[in-house]
Amino acid sequence: MAIENRVCEHPWNKQAFVDSFDNAAIDIQLILLDEKIAGYLLSLRSVEFVDVLNICIDSKFQRQGLARQLLNKLVASRQSDTVSAILLEVRKSNIIALNFYLKYGFQLIDTRKKYYSNLEDAKILRLQI
Ligand SMILES: CC(C)(COP(=O)(O)OP(=O)(O)OC[C@H]1O[C@@H](n2cnc3c(N)ncnc32)[C@H](O)[C@@H]1OP(=O)(O)O)[C@@H](O)C(=O)NCCC(=O)NCCS
Repeated sequence: MAIENRVCEHPWNKQAFVDSFDNAAIDIQLILLDEKIAGYLLSLRSVEFVDVLNICIDSKFQRQGLARQLLNKLVASRQSDTVSAILLEVRKSNIIALNFYLKYGFQLIDTRKKYYSNLEDAKILRLQI
C-alpha cells in the first residue's frame, strides 16, 4: 500500500488488493530488491486474454527496466497456453504509463469515454503474444 500511495496518482485502496489476493484468477508478480518490494504487477487470466490490472514501480527504482522485466515475465509465462493477447486500460492523462506501454509494443485499440469515476477517458491497449 505504501508504494501504491506514494507512486500512483489514483491508487488502489486496501480492499482492492485484498479482493485480488482472494481471486484465484489473479496472478501477482513481485520484484524484490534487498528483500523489499520494489514493484509489482497484478494480472487477470482468462482463456484468451490476460488483463494487466495494476503495475507499479517504486519511485526510486523507476527507469531501470523493472516494469519491462515484469511484462517480459508475464509474456513468457503465457506464451505456452491459449492466451493470444495482453490487454489493459490506462488513464488518458497517464502519459508516462502510455509511453511505457507503447514503447513496449502495445497498440492503442480503443478509447472508452468517461470510463473512470472522475469521468476520465481510458485508453485500451493490446499486445499480441
Ligand atoms: C509506468 C511505470 C510502471 C514504468 O515503470 P519503470 O520500471 O520505470 O519502466 P521501465 O524502466 O521498464 O521503462 C521502460 C521504458 O518505458 C518508457 N518510460 C518509462 N518511464 C518513463 C518516463 N518517466 N518518461 C518517459 N518514458 C518512460 C521508456 O521508454 C523506458 O525505456 P528507457 O528507460 O530505455 O528509455 C512506472 O512509471 C510507474 O510505476 N508509474 C506509476 C504507476 C502507474 O502509472 N502504473 C500504470 C497504471 S496503468
